[in-house]
Amino acid sequence: YGQPADMDPLLEIASRYDLVVIEDACQAHGATYKGRKAGSMGLAGCFSFYPGKNLGAYGEGGAVVSQDKGLIDKIKMIRDHGQARKYYHEFEGYNGRLDAIQAGILRIKLRRLEQWNNARRENAKYYDELLSQIPGVKTPHEADYARSVYHLYVILVDERDKLQAFLSEKGIGTGLHYPVPLHLQKAYKHLGYGEGAFPVAEGAARRLLSLPMFPELSREQVEYVAESIREFMEAR
Ligand SMILES: Cc1ncc(COP(=O)(O)O)c(C=O)c1O
Repeated sequence: YGQPADMDPLLEIASRYDLVVIEDACQAHGATYKGRKAGSMGLAGCFSFYPGKNLGAYGEGGAVVSQDKGLIDKIKMIRDHGQARKYYHEFEGYNGRLDAIQAGILRIKLRRLEQWNNARRENAKYYDELLSQIPGVKTPHEADYARSVYHLYVILVDERDKLQAFLSEKGIGTGLHYPVPLHLQKAYKHLGYGEGAFPVAEGAARRLLSLPMFPELSREQVEYVAESIREFMEAR
């Protein structure tokens, strides 16, 4: 959601067992862990520039960053049908090239990323302040080691579906990130996990609700969302 994982223990385990760490920083452009940028701590970091992301293109896009030049050369080839030189294919790849138009847009938007992330953090702080006073609403926790960029602001509530419908009637759009835990996805059925295998993830999937979160959100809008949630919770 924009907050890096506790990386030091992960990096330590990886180094002990000779594993590589690949960071999924797709929701964490500009976030930091103990001052280090998300995506810069493992062998490689992956970013999505899907339009809704903190740094979003006007279409699809993404990037892999790494200090390992050999790895980057290989990734450049993979995204370009396995060629380093036009029409000479060394292995099978696919077309994952970033459009020049998207790159141009991202380059301009990148200058504003810090400012937008700060605005998200201000919105999150204001949500925290207003929502923490409402019994039955669990607000996100920012770890001491992290500076979250709040790609999403996700609360936990019982009767989530009813609250979501109530907010929708008030003109407030919300999202579910994510309604189905990995182990219950059809795609991973072959792994053999069923309902009850990961009760924490399953409980979170039933209770989570993503509130409106974007840099341009006004204080009045945050207040309207928080007041609407209060109205619902008090009427229960
Ligand atoms: C955490 C995370 N990882 C990976 C992805 C995939 O990125 P993309 O949709 O650009 O392939 C996303 C976004 O959808 C994401 O939020």
